[in-house]
Amino acid sequence: MEMNIALLPGDGIGPEVIDQAVKVVKAVAQKFNHNITFTEAIVGATAIDQVGNPYPDATHDICVQSDAVLFGAIGDPKYDNDPKAKVRPEQGLLEMRKKLGLFANVRPTFTFPSLVHKSPLKRDRIEGTDLVFLRELTGGVYFGEPRGRNEQGTKAFDTNVYSVEEIERLARMGFEFAQKRRKLLTCVDKANVMATSRLWRETVQRLAPEYPDVKVEYEFVDAVAMRLIQWPKAYDVLITENLFGDILTDEASVISGSMGLMPSASLGLTTKLFEPIHGSYPQASGKDIANPLATVLSAAMMFEYAFGLMDEANAISDVVNLSLEQGVVTEDIADGGKAYKTSEVGDWLVKQILG
Ligand code: IPM
Ligand code: MN
Repeated sequence: MEMNIALLPGDGIGPEVIDQAVKVVKAVAQKFNHNITFTEAIVGATAIDQVGNPYPDATHDICVQSDAVLFGAIGDPKYDNDPKAKVRPEQGLLEMRKKLGLFANVRPTFTFPSLVHKSPLKRDRIEGTDLVFLRELTGGVYFGEPRGRNEQGTKAFDTNVYSVEEIERLARMGFEFAQKRRKLLTCVDKANVMATSRLWRETVQRLAPEYPDVKVEYEFVDAVAMRLIQWPKAYDVLITENLFGDILTDEASVISGSMGLMPSASLGLTTKLFEPIHGSYPQASGKDIANPLATVLSAAMMFEYAFGLMDEANAISDVVNLSLEQGVVTEDIADGGKAYKTSEVGDWLVKQILG
């Protein structure tokens, strides 16, 4: 297959982890006879430094023209401590999501047999967890207007807004995911308090009869926050709005043992995008110590969701599992054993794929 992949390494550890994913993707292409062209583009703080815009038009054009986007991370501490900064790297991320129409962020949570003992949660609670969040990604309080301050600057406000259309397309995707999995869909909302949540619930209730094989549960977000770590095996597919999804998916990463392991896919109207759920981890930037596995697993999701190539996707997740079993891992999960460098983990994965 011919594939055009846009590479957006971004900030912090982004470039290092993307490098490893690229090595792995090239190895898979060699093994399965694919022809891949990579086109690199700037985004985030790096792009602000170079051209004053965190998501330049040239980058957007490259994304639109590609079959898939592999994305590293965005963020730089020099902006975190400056609430008055006019342009922020995160704006680039949000603009990219909006302009590419990436309305669904797929964030799976599963346990790795060789890491279960490293989770702060009890083994019997988490072993065998297999759930997936579909987080709405282009609406809600992240984009709602009006937002800002009153004239005196003494009040600030954000607006949470959802249309039926936005909820419906995400919910339908949730029903379809559930149909291919264990047929349980949980709608996570705050319908006892929020008008937007009541529209979510109403919309999901209206659609449910069209998917009679899927059992639907409605749960309040605060209860899910608790039950998710108490009994994660109770869940299969969870759909939720942008902000709730942001918070709950960070929480869910604890089940897997490390943020450094969690991939994601963003799907929607145009080119699909694949990225680790962790951030730019500036403290580790340039040190060759960051965990590349979340990005490598995001590349596996790319083969599955962008190209429908399951064997290629499995080839990647198999070698990632092997690296965890054999302890070829970075310091965040080395647990007293030898800590490998980011690039060493990448090289090792390549050798296993081609070996
Ligand atoms: C994420 C991140 C982003 C978000 C930030 C960096 C804007 O936390 O992808 O989850 O809140 O969506
Ligand atoms: Mn987040």
